[in-house]
Amino acid sequence: MNERVIRGFYDRFAGIYDFVFNGVFQPGRLEAVRAMDLQPGQRVLEVGVGTGLNLELYPEGVRVVGVDISLPMLREALERQRRRPPAAEVQLARMDALGLGFPDNTFDVVYAPYVVTVVPRPRQVVAEMARVCRPGGRVVVVNHFGSSKRPVQWFEKRLTPLTSHVGFRLDLPLEAILGVPGLIKEQERRVNAFGLWRLVVFGKRA
Ligand SMILES: C[S@@+](CC[C@H](N)C(=O)[O-])C[C@H]1O[C@@H](n2cnc3c(N)ncnc32)[C@H](O)[C@@H]1O
Repeated sequence: MNERVIRGFYDRFAGIYDFVFNGVFQPGRLEAVRAMDLQPGQRVLEVGVGTGLNLELYPEGVRVVGVDISLPMLREALERQRRRPPAAEVQLARMDALGLGFPDNTFDVVYAPYVVTVVPRPRQVVAEMARVCRPGGRVVVVNHFGSSKRPVQWFEKRLTPLTSHVGFRLDLPLEAILGVPGLIKEQERRVNAFGLWRLVVFGKRA
């Protein structure tokens, strides 16, 4: 995955992103926020916040920082906040998920919805998420991951050069983001249509 291509794609299509990706990804977003079991006063980092489709799902009393590499996507998120102010307190910033500009152990929950297959080095992103999550906190990922079934893998491998042009890959195995030091997988379940996406919740060792 080429960073310039990915960024160019989201910069160009920010205006129509919600039309294409709101409904289809929404059940996974809802389940992810439920799995966070957020309490008032907790701090959440949302990595790849995009147009802010998750922002109104966070409960009141929670403080959320949303970061994204694409300014046009962030502009859409700002506009959404203006139209429908979220219950949670939200701050947005432009930032690369491959190098998060926060000190270690800053957030209670670090969440990446539909992001690990659009970055060139997914494991590095999850390692960064783990670093900024406090001990005892949670790292939450929702994404499609490559199938373990041979015939499906065959299709995913062949389609990925095409989907890469539109900003994501289909063939990333879940194993690519497992085993990050400090993280223990606590939950894994299938979400969205036909269970083609997965919600994965990690705990950070206390
Ligand atoms: C498929 S969209 C997901 C948006 C949103 N999370 C959602 O639930 O719809 C992927 C997002 O990741 C962002 N992104 C891609 N590469 C990134 C990077 N290196 N750092 C931060 N954000 C990145 C894109 O700009 C885009 O907004």
